[in-house]
This record gives sequence, C-alpha cells and structure tokens, in this order.
Amino acid sequence: MKTLENLQKDKSILEWPVYMRRAIDLAGIVLSATPNPRVGCVIVNGGEIVSEGWHAAAGLAHAEVMAIEKAGELAQDGIAFVSLEPCSFTGRTGPCSQALIEAGLSKVVIAGLDPDARVSGSGVKQLEDAGIEVFHLPEFEAQAQDLNRGYFKRHTLGLPFVRLKLAMSLDGRTALASGESKWITSSIARSDVQRIRASSSVILTGVNTVIDDDPTLNVRTEDLSLDEEELNLNQDCLAQQPMRVILDSQLQTPGTARILAATGQVKIFTASSGNHPNNLGDNVEIVQIAQEEKGVDLESVLESLASKFACNDVLVEAGPTLSGSFIEKNLVDELIVYVAPKILGSDAKPLLEISGLSSLAQATQLEIKEVAEIGKDIKAVLSKPN
Ligand SMILES: NC(=O)c1ccc[n+]([C@@H]2O[C@H](COP(=O)([O-])OP(=O)(O)OC[C@H]3O[C@@H](n4cnc5c(N)ncnc54)[C@H](OP(=O)(O)O)[C@@H]3O)[C@@H](O)[C@H]2O)c1
Repeated sequence: MKTLENLQKDKSILEWPVYMRRAIDLAGIVLSATPNPRVGCVIVNGGEIVSEGWHAAAGLAHAEVMAIEKAGELAQDGIAFVSLEPCSFTGRTGPCSQALIEAGLSKVVIAGLDPDARVSGSGVKQLEDAGIEVFHLPEFEAQAQDLNRGYFKRHTLGLPFVRLKLAMSLDGRTALASGESKWITSSIARSDVQRIRASSSVILTGVNTVIDDDPTLNVRTEDLSLDEEELNLNQDCLAQQPMRVILDSQLQTPGTARILAATGQVKIFTASSGNHPNNLGDNVEIVQIAQEEKGVDLESVLESLASKFACNDVLVEAGPTLSGSFIEKNLVDELIVYVAPKILGSDAKPLLEISGLSSLAQATQLEIKEVAEIGKDIKAVLSKPN
C-alpha cells in the first residue's frame, strides 16, 4: 500500500482529501448498517466526481458497488476513494475488491484497513495483485473509525461499543419516590434518544424497567428528528428494528410485556435454567448466561452479543440498578445524560445505585466530550478518559 509521497509530483493529489472527506460524509448518511460498517465511496475520473455510493443497510449493495454501477463506463481507469478497505470475501453480497478490479479502476484510495479478520489487508492485496495501485490516507483513519466505533471494537476486542443513556433532573434524580417519572425531559430530548436508538444494534434494559414502565424500546420513525430527505435515505436502515435485550436472572419478564409484542428480535438473558411460564413469540429467544452477584454477568452478556449476534453498538436504557452495575464494572464507553431543569428533591430516586465508595480516588472519572442545549434540557456526552 502506498502513501501520497509516492505521488508527490502529481498535482491532482491536492484534491484527494476533498474526495475522501466526501466518502466519509457519504458513509454517515445512514444511521446504522449493522452488523456491517458504514462505508462511503466516490469515483473520480478526469478530475471530476463521476459517481457516489454508500452502504445503505446489511444485505444491500456495498458503497463501492453502488458507485461502480452509477459510474458505468466512467469507472474505467478512474480512482475510487473508499472510507474503509474494500471487502474481499463473499458474504450476503460479493467481494468489493473483485468488483473494483472488474470495473477497471486504476487506483483505490482508502482511509484505513478493515479490522474484520476475513478482510484486514487481503482486500488491499487482491487489488494490488490485479495491478491496481492502492493508497492510504492516514490523516482520515481516526475519522473513518469514529463512524464505526462498534464495528471496530467488536472486531478488535470481541465486545460491542456500549453507550449508557440516562435522563435526570438537575439534582440527579430520575423519578419521584412514588415512581412517577413521565416525563422528566422534553419531547425534543426524547426524539434525540430515538435517533440514538436507530443508530444502535441493541437496546438493552433490566427486568425492573420492563415490569415498572412496560416500554417497547423500539424506534418510532415518526418520533425521529430526521427531515424528509434523511428519512428517505434511511428507509432501509429503519426497516429493521434494533434487537431488544432484557437482563432477567429469574425469568420474571411478564409474558404480556409490550417489548415482547413489538416488531423485532428480543433476547432475554437469564441465569435461570427453567422455561418461561408463558409461550413467547418466535421473535423472543431465551439466552442462558453466567450469574454474578447482582444478576447476570454483564461482560459475558456483551461478549455473547458481539460473538453470537454480531452486535456492534449497544445502547443501555435501564434504571439505576443495572446502569450502576455497568458503571461499576467499567463497561461503559460513552455516557449520554439528558439533564432537565427540574429539581425533584432528596426523596426522589437516584440516577445510579452505586455504593461503598470510601475515597474520591475510587470515583468513576469521566471526560466531557460534548455539551449542548436540546429543547429545554441539556445534553452531555461523556466518555472514559484516554
Ligand atoms: N432515567 C432514566 O434514564 C431511566 C431509564 C430507564 C428506566 N428508568 C427507571 O428505572 C426504574 C427501574 O430501575 P431499577 O433500578 O429498579 O431496575 P433496572 O436497572 O431497569 O433493572 C434492574 C434489574 O436488572 C436485573 N439485572 C440482571 N443482571 C444485572 C446486573 N448484572 N446488575 C444489575 N441488575 C441486573 C436485576 O433483576 P434480576 O436480579 O431479577 O435479574 C435487577 O434488579 C423504572 O421505574 C424506570 O422508570 C429510568
């Protein structure tokens, strides 16, 4: 694989970062392509963009194939800018490396290698073996990886990227002592949560939230803060609901729970070896998992979601007990907190059930990534310090 130094006398390379930036923007058109990565591709010929492509959803054409089809004969001798190394194996669709070779591209420029062991470097090798020059633009690598944090984490560490969403009052409370909590935050904040759900492979919760609130935890297209064009472009991605996961050691999820009846797959992770007392639908699977002190073993749940169900991004939407466990076990990559300008007082329920700290040195330290006003609320995004 070559870098730009190999082409220093060629003035046209000055435009290459523009094309790669466009490929990255195209990748970001869709909220999710789970279990696949989001990828964008631009084909340039004679100094002009002749076509653009992106991967709209798993099972549909990959970005390179969409761009090649749109370019037609103009792909011949062109340069393809792709935000990720082209795949080199046959999955639900054929290998993109082969499609690029057959279309007669002269050069392929990528932002980085695919971490999937079935590809990682072999996409580049197949192209080079066929006489196509492959270039790497390392300055775009971090940006391209950011588009697919869960995909990269699953293929490198065998775990999904975990986001924990919490909604709280200004004094860090989530519900009145009576349990009343609807709604602490505004509808604009809740519609932002819908968008985060749509970009996740899994929405994970605890059995108490299912019993107390009876949520569906699904994506409601009408509540998404997307304009008409974004909705159109995301049609295929939104046709599939994220998997819903309930952590329920004793199999106490009511058979009538709305989460089980809503469209889409549901997995109940349990430590119980018994059967659920009710006949559950075909969309519901019971997954046996190891027990730990506070319920099921969270790390095993995450490993199973990555390895068995190819889940890249998990959104935890649970109460203080399970959310507290995720924090205590240091399993949260990103915390998204919506803060409503309301004060619920000290009788109200806490944000997280975490106890036993005896010194500040034991406190969970986070780093603020983003703070924004959202409707009448504040949204803060935090992550583990680097
Ligand atoms: N403010 C927010 O953002 C927000 C979001 C969601 C829910 N809520 C509120 O939270 C309330 C429920 O909170 P909650 O704390 O009682 O329940 P929860 O966190 O939703 O669920 C806790 C239950 O999950 C199960 N679990 C399985 N494995 C676990 C593990 N490793 N660690 C911890 N729990 C595990 C346990 O039941 P088993 O032992 O039976 O398995 C545990 O009792 C609801 O009223 C809801 O309104 C608030």
